[in-house]
Amino acid sequence: MTAFRILGGRPLNGEIGIKGAKNAVLPLLAAALLVSGEVLLRDCPRLNDIDHMLEILAAIGCQVRWEGQNIAIDAGNAAEHRMPEELSKRMRSSIFMLGPALARFGKARFSYPGGCEIGLRPIDLHLSSLRAMGAQIIEERGHIYCSGKLIGAKIHLDYPSVGATENIMMAAVGAQGDTVIYNAAREPEIEDLAAFLNACGAEIKGAGQSSIEIRGGTPLKACEYVPLRDRIVAGTLLVGAAMTGGEVFAKGARAKDMQAVLQKLSEMGCTIGMEEGGVRVRGPKALKAVRRVETNPHPSFPTDMQAQIMSALCVARGSSVVVENVFESRFGHAAELCRMGADIQIDGKIAVVRGVKRLYGAKVVSRDLRGGAALTLAGLRAVGETIVTEVELIDRGYERMEEMLRCLGAGIERIETEE
Ligand code: EPZ
Repeated sequence: MTAFRILGGRPLNGEIGIKGAKNAVLPLLAAALLVSGEVLLRDCPRLNDIDHMLEILAAIGCQVRWEGQNIAIDAGNAAEHRMPEELSKRMRSSIFMLGPALARFGKARFSYPGGCEIGLRPIDLHLSSLRAMGAQIIEERGHIYCSGKLIGAKIHLDYPSVGATENIMMAAVGAQGDTVIYNAAREPEIEDLAAFLNACGAEIKGAGQSSIEIRGGTPLKACEYVPLRDRIVAGTLLVGAAMTGGEVFAKGARAKDMQAVLQKLSEMGCTIGMEEGGVRVRGPKALKAVRRVETNPHPSFPTDMQAQIMSALCVARGSSVVVENVFESRFGHAAELCRMGADIQIDGKIAVVRGVKRLYGAKVVSRDLRGGAALTLAGLRAVGETIVTEVELIDRGYERMEEMLRCLGAGIERIETEE
């Protein structure tokens, strides 16, 4: 099994280029199904989740290929409305294909995407919204059968779901008539999807706000597009600088996408530089605890940064409270951090973190993508050697994380372990 071996105690220092965001590129790949001609997405990260999405697109007849760091997709010959069973089960983001497949083929068959390490991940908001747009949807024996002509509708989301907002947007551009989404997700990746679709000829207004208006039926022509830079990868590396008392410049990161995270780092005593072309964080000699970090939909503190900030709070002076409001089981990293000497108490969605003087290297297990990243950061700060296993999970969201950290001065290498 693949693992990271980390020798702690070295500060992270230097500049790192941030690539396209996994959570922007995945919906863009699905949206290519709606576009005639060859789409080119520039400077994309090589991640397992992106390769899985490309496999799904190829399986339904799209021409897909990597050109260096760019991805070319031509959906002209796509004709298969049945999503490959194994692939769509293995990666829940394949649910993004539902809206575009319905808009393109008038029908779609999916296997129910399973939950994952951080929660059940239901898709009721996706299905109820598409039904409101005229789709007939039958859920039977682990499969979802959808069909029907999509008609624009006014849709109110009970919860500002990122994936549901993206699915509705993509379905709506292929529907007859106009759609309005109320209580839409406001994440930067939503704005990026709208910007891509508008660059292809769509008419979408209000993305990034709570209400989004989408004109249906406009033909979409392929374009070249540079996806949004990854605010979570950038945030992870900047937390690394904070924890190790170093200074890192995340080139390409946009401060406006990361305000809640930068605010917390500033409260913890970090010096924040919002510069032209990137974001800089310098860690203090000693981090300060914060009264509370609560995860909620954007622009609140992002759930995808909860594990990483918890790691930093473990070595801050004082006690902090971390509240995970978005997913029901996203504290898998806490027990592993305690194995390194952290002092964390969990009660439901609340974690109380009492800062300790130091963490000690240990063998720890990644329970999920961001939890694995958080344990890696803890290893950079710990005394001695840390082994982080199940690195395949980290590879889903970070392209060669060990190389990024090594070029910032970390003592880290990728190893194969026996078991
Ligand atoms: C996206 O997942 C991201 N994934 C997640 O990133 C991120 O954590 C999440 O948004 C929240 O920001 C991608 O973009 C590929 P949601 P998504 O629908 O769309 C509940 C990472 O680490 N819900 O906003 O699945 C759901 O259970 C990943 O990069 C319903 O109840 O998130 C959860 O509690 C992890 N019914 C909450 O909403 C639904 O139909 C947020 O889910 C849909 C969601």
